[in-house]
Amino acid sequence: MLLQNSNTWASGSEIKEMYEYAEKVYDIKKAYTDATGRKRYAYIQTYGCQQNLSDSERIKGLLVIMGYSITEDMGSADLILFNTCAVRAGAQDRAQSNLGRLKIYKKDKPDLIIGVFGCMTQQHSVAERLFKGFNHIDLIFGTQNHHRFPLMLYTLITEKKRTICVYDSETRIAEGLPVSRDEKFRAWIPIMYGCNNFCSYCIVPYVRGRETSRRHEDILDEIKKVIDSGAKEITLLGQNVNSYGKYFNDGPDFSGLLKMINSIRGNFRIRFMTSNPKDFSTGLVDSIAECEKVTRHIHLPVQSGSNRILRLMNRGYTKEAYLEKISYARNMLPGLEITSDIITGFPGETRQDFDETIELVKNVEYTSLFTFIYSPREGTAAAKLDDPVPYSEKSAWMRELIDIQADISEKHLKKLVGSEQKILVDSAGEHLAGRNSGNILTVFNGDESLLGTFVDVKITDSNRRELKAELL
Ligand code: 5AD
Ligand code: SF4
Repeated sequence: MLLQNSNTWASGSEIKEMYEYAEKVYDIKKAYTDATGRKRYAYIQTYGCQQNLSDSERIKGLLVIMGYSITEDMGSADLILFNTCAVRAGAQDRAQSNLGRLKIYKKDKPDLIIGVFGCMTQQHSVAERLFKGFNHIDLIFGTQNHHRFPLMLYTLITEKKRTICVYDSETRIAEGLPVSRDEKFRAWIPIMYGCNNFCSYCIVPYVRGRETSRRHEDILDEIKKVIDSGAKEITLLGQNVNSYGKYFNDGPDFSGLLKMINSIRGNFRIRFMTSNPKDFSTGLVDSIAECEKVTRHIHLPVQSGSNRILRLMNRGYTKEAYLEKISYARNMLPGLEITSDIITGFPGETRQDFDETIELVKNVEYTSLFTFIYSPREGTAAAKLDDPVPYSEKSAWMRELIDIQADISEKHLKKLVGSEQKILVDSAGEHLAGRNSGNILTVFNGDESLLGTFVDVKITDSNRRELKAELL
């Protein structure tokens, strides 16, 4: 029995229909290529987080079975898709103005198809504004209906009909979609979608819908497949991976899932993100300690070091509780690297609150930090709060924090000089590069044939961003 509504999953007949329409589009494209000798190219521009990168890989999977070749060159594409983000106004404005510019492309190439999907279009007002205001956009869909994309494309090609198809915030999971992965050795594996936390600044629960976990069988199947085809590192994705399985009344929780994945045969690493500190338990740390494949890196966004601001953010923990969890995790997991997100200039934040954030950052000694200036999002609780601090000050605070962290990162990485590390080689150019278990970028000389393998290196030097090493 599932507490998650069975309506959560796109039905077998919906998925069958998806493949049928994909085949129809494929036939049309093939007839075109046969007649003209010209292939059809699709380009996807992805904004936002890893979840969006993963969604784009599924849309690319659909494009490939519909007979498109994926191109990195927008200018030569016959189909352009934008996968958008809504988390801050900046990301949304950038996508919107780039979409506006596509109008010229269509003048030169009237058959060009342009589509938008992702978090930005999940906001009904934005989707409608785009549909009414941007005539050159043909397709608008959301985050819950990727499986409808072939039907929408077929309708557009055969009936010249523009469509907008965005589901409400109810989450739908479509299993069985083809995936065209960007990387050979590293794979994104979504384990849950949506979020129920309603942090007061955050738009995600409104655009990505309610927290919904994938069935562990589907996750394990996908992982076995990518490992069989050569992946050496998988990253489990979710807005809040710690609450995986919370709405199933049987089946594993996140610790259980990690153990199941850890026991899959093969030489590979397991990463996961993002963890919400409120649900990051000592039990989970104990499980990580038992799983040799799980890496020693935790992204644990604190957002602020002031309890007053954390309360206003509705984060559900205090800085003391956060620090206690960090210290437990560091004790149990030697070599653990911790990274975080921080927002500066939350409505009503004072210099004193900000000083507490600085104190916490110095105290934790993060490996690295992602800093953001607060961006009010329509419909969120924080958007209604008084916000007297001028933007210039918020941005000065952010710069101050970046400088402080740069020193911390530099000192932190220096401590690793002289140590031995295991690196998964994931790029080969002038030098080889890869990451250690703690996710720190490490550069060294070596043969290209080592790409996609784990190698042992000795760290010889460091700066604030990366380690330099030599092969052992
Ligand atoms: N303004 C600024 N930063 C935000 N984030 C989420 N919402 C906002 C917002 N409204 C940041 C948080 C989160 C990261 C993904 O983006 O720090 O952890
Ligand atoms: Fe990712 Fe959130 Fe941006 Fe959506 S709104 S792309 S979930 S960061």
